[in-house]
Amino acid sequence: MAGGNRKRIRIAASLLSADFSRLAEEVAVCEKGGADWLHVDVMDGQFVPNLTFGAKIIETVRKLTRLPLDVHLMVVQPEKYFDDFAAAGATGLTIHVEAAPHLHRQMQRIRELGCSPGVALNPSTGLEAVREIVPDIDLLLVMTVNPGFGGQKFIPQMLAKISRARDMLDAAGSGATLEVDGGISRDTIAPAHDAGADTFVAGNAVFTARDPRAEIAALRDAVTVRV
Ligand code: DX5
Ligand code: ZN
Repeated sequence: MAGGNRKRIRIAASLLSADFSRLAEEVAVCEKGGADWLHVDVMDGQFVPNLTFGAKIIETVRKLTRLPLDVHLMVVQPEKYFDDFAAAGATGLTIHVEAAPHLHRQMQRIRELGCSPGVALNPSTGLEAVREIVPDIDLLLVMTVNPGFGGQKFIPQMLAKISRARDMLDAAGSGATLEVDGGISRDTIAPAHDAGADTFVAGNAVFTARDPRAEIAALRDAVTVRV
């Protein structure tokens, strides 16, 4: 087993599944429920077949909470948005390697803007694509679904990839966060943690729960309470 309770875990509640007519309440529920981060999914209808939100929502959410805003850019030419998203109050900016041929430059630029640089990998993309820039990242996001929609099923074969990602970060002496995103539930969070992930994005699990606060606690318990 590569994982165990090596580090404190983080739950990043994904606003994609929130009720936007009650955004302030949904954000408050996450905060009161003990979410560590809020995950903001930016989609452009090109990199992924869905369209969501941009700087205006980041700015709005920023005013509603002090929680870190973990912004996940599923867009082509992500660099076009860095300045606006940083100014809007993003804490971390995570871009997809598949959309960023000049990843090293983009990581530096995100840091210059005062944000934490992260890189995401689609399920079909190998870890080799990011090995050379491990020293430049604060976060590695292993997608556990094909990005674009909430409520999809966790892809089990990603567990071996998470484990290899953990080994890659450890071998490089990196303290980067290893985040997983997609299909995280009470059932999948423990295997993902055991494989070595420390930060878990959860959208559907949290916002379709009758009691989202209790669900955040249940997700955390599923990895921290072991008998
Ligand atoms: C999917 C997004 C995810 C999404 C996860 O493309 O990147 O962040 O909100 O949602 P669930 O937890 O419902 O799979
Ligand atoms: Zn996401």
